[in-house]
Amino acid sequence: MTKVALVTGGSRGIGAAISIGLKNAGYTVAANYAGNDEAAGKFSAQTGIKAYKWSVADYDACAAVLVNNAGITRDAMFHKLTREQWKEVIDTNLSGVFNMTHPLWGGMRDRKFGRVITISSINGQKGQAGQVNYSAAKAGDIGFSKALAQEGARAGITVNVICPGYIATEMVKAIDEKVLNERIIPQIPVGRLGEPEEIARCVVFLASEDAGFITGSTITANGGQYFA
Ligand code: CAA
Repeated sequence: MTKVALVTGGSRGIGAAISIGLKNAGYTVAANYAGNDEAAGKFSAQTGIKAYKWSVADYDACAAVLVNNAGITRDAMFHKLTREQWKEVIDTNLSGVFNMTHPLWGGMRDRKFGRVITISSINGQKGQAGQVNYSAAKAGDIGFSKALAQEGARAGITVNVICPGYIATEMVKAIDEKVLNERIIPQIPVGRLGEPEEIARCVVFLASEDAGFITGSTITANGGQYFA
């Protein structure tokens, strides 16, 4: 099990020692710091621990945006799909969204502001042969978000989903070249894979104050491959 530790004031002094101690003990560490960019940069370069800047004293700075982006594929036709391949994908792509959102939800409710943005997939909308596990998890992410959006609305928290189509990432480039070129790209009306930045811009919009009236929504960004 991966253990994640967030260490506030974690790039200098006692905090730095705590970050390093936790890292050595097997934790994945995120170090928070408030002001000293130079020290934080040096700390990250020396330790490999990422440092994130905000002041814990600044109430407004605690307003949280959570982007559930982590996801994996274990593609196989259903008759060959193993229980392990099923479980790995459900654990990461669906339960992972619960695991990350649940601990942050109380703070968002207290602060009366929050943004939960989950990256689902075109294949959670339309299904994809060879991806029963992935399609089930990604469809689950949409149901999760629609239900949670109703709970968060009165508390100023929006919960939305982005469904990217086939984007030029390592995950998509790992598909067999023949399958990608002959079966998948021809199904994309714009005639190309999407770019990661085209998804990032959707996230930036949903995270903004301007998107406060949008909740429980699914943004489809797939080059016209599927109209949900
Ligand atoms: N619909 C119905 N049947 C299909 C099919 C489809 N779309 N694609 C393949 N089949 C059939 C084949 O015709 C073949 O049938 P026969 O045995 O009767 O000839 C059978 O299924 C096996 O096909 P393959 O030879 O392709 O099987 P394989 O075991 O070599 O490979 C696979 C299976 C790994 C799933 C491969 O087909 C594949 O990579 N498909 C693409 C899956 C895909 O789109 N993954 C997306 C990954 S990226 C991502 O997930 C990001 C995102 O969100 C979009």
